[in-house]
Amino acid sequence: MKMFLLLFLALANLFYPAFAGDSDYMWISTGSDVLDSAEKSNLKSYISSPTKIGDITILKLKKEAIGELSELMHEKFKRCGGFFVHESYEQAMGDIKSFELNKNNNRIFKFQQNELTPKLINEVNEENIEGTIRKLSSFKNRYYKSVHGANASNWIYNNWKQITAHRNDVAIEKIIHSNWPQPTIHLRLKGKSNKDIIIGGHADSIAGWWGRANGHAPGADDNASGIATITEILRILTGQDGQPKHNIHFMAYAAEEVGLHGSKEMAKRFKRQGRQVLGVIQFDMTNFNGSTNDIHLVDDFTDPNLNNFLESLMKRHLPSLKSGRTRCGYGCSDHASWNREGFPASFPFEAEKGDMNRHIHTNRDTIEQSDGHARHAAKFARLGVAFALELDQ
Ligand code: BES
Ligand code: ZN
Repeated sequence: MKMFLLLFLALANLFYPAFAGDSDYMWISTGSDVLDSAEKSNLKSYISSPTKIGDITILKLKKEAIGELSELMHEKFKRCGGFFVHESYEQAMGDIKSFELNKNNNRIFKFQQNELTPKLINEVNEENIEGTIRKLSSFKNRYYKSVHGANASNWIYNNWKQITAHRNDVAIEKIIHSNWPQPTIHLRLKGKSNKDIIIGGHADSIAGWWGRANGHAPGADDNASGIATITEILRILTGQDGQPKHNIHFMAYAAEEVGLHGSKEMAKRFKRQGRQVLGVIQFDMTNFNGSTNDIHLVDDFTDPNLNNFLESLMKRHLPSLKSGRTRCGYGCSDHASWNREGFPASFPFEAEKGDMNRHIHTNRDTIEQSDGHARHAAKFARLGVAFALELDQ
């Protein structure tokens, strides 16, 4: 039986190269234009299993034909190389995905100068931020599955609606999620172009293990502070006459604390719609000044160029603030949902990770841990105003 099988494979190998042992072939990826040309040349008999993924094609190439492929590249496409070798089909797919992500990440964010930036940075009002933190932390909790969580998000909806009531270029919607009652709130200030700038944070809070839907989870820092920061940015930007160049989106995500669910849905929706996102900024915990620096850019699951852009913004417009870097070590907040879909995201954080507010996720996460004021969060609101204006070019 075994003999027959070996004989069959040997014959098959002779008459039909696609049956050749795997070691005779290599997986490569190259431009789909190259495949079209190769199929018209005598390379055709050395190629099998081509899979086109847009501009890129993955195919199996008989190893002995590699020289001929190089020649074709040189002569017809004037490219040196022009293809990548992978160990398997799966690896080729993975490499293409990270290449696509990097392509997006390689966008260089040019530092612009919008003459409005210094003026609007000055309009940040700390008391407004404090007021929103106090209001949001007065709900019993903002747990995604509880009626309090839904009520708190509805309050954000009404508040944002009221702040922007004087404008006819603002659309606000409640995104209803199928598995829990807390909606994600999404407001869009319409721009002249089709591109998007996104300013977001999570609305939900969490504390304890049992009876979370009825427990006390004020979440003043995590993350009433982020929503209050975003609300102040919204007030200032929509307080201006005129239309921004790009759409500016404001988002209060549901269900972050249980797995980034609300933001995952939003990022996937933007991806599905093929939207061009210029940058995403995440505000999650902005009011606890734990360390010596003021603003700490989270270095992982974020976009290096967008992080550098934020740093240059701070140097120019907020020179009295000290900036630093920190890391979560995992996808610790909603920026990771956008990063995962290939959109450039940044996450300026309140402290060094090792020096953060120890009271989050307990009933002690109140504004008193920040001495009852919003001085720290106000720095983030200033950065958010600069971010939106300088990216809107
Ligand atoms: N605000 C925290 C994330 C955080 C904590 C960032 C400390 C930086 C320092 C967030 O709301 C949270 O708790 N996230 C979860 C992860 C999520 C995937 C469930 C966490 O960190 O456990
Ligand atoms: Zn949080």
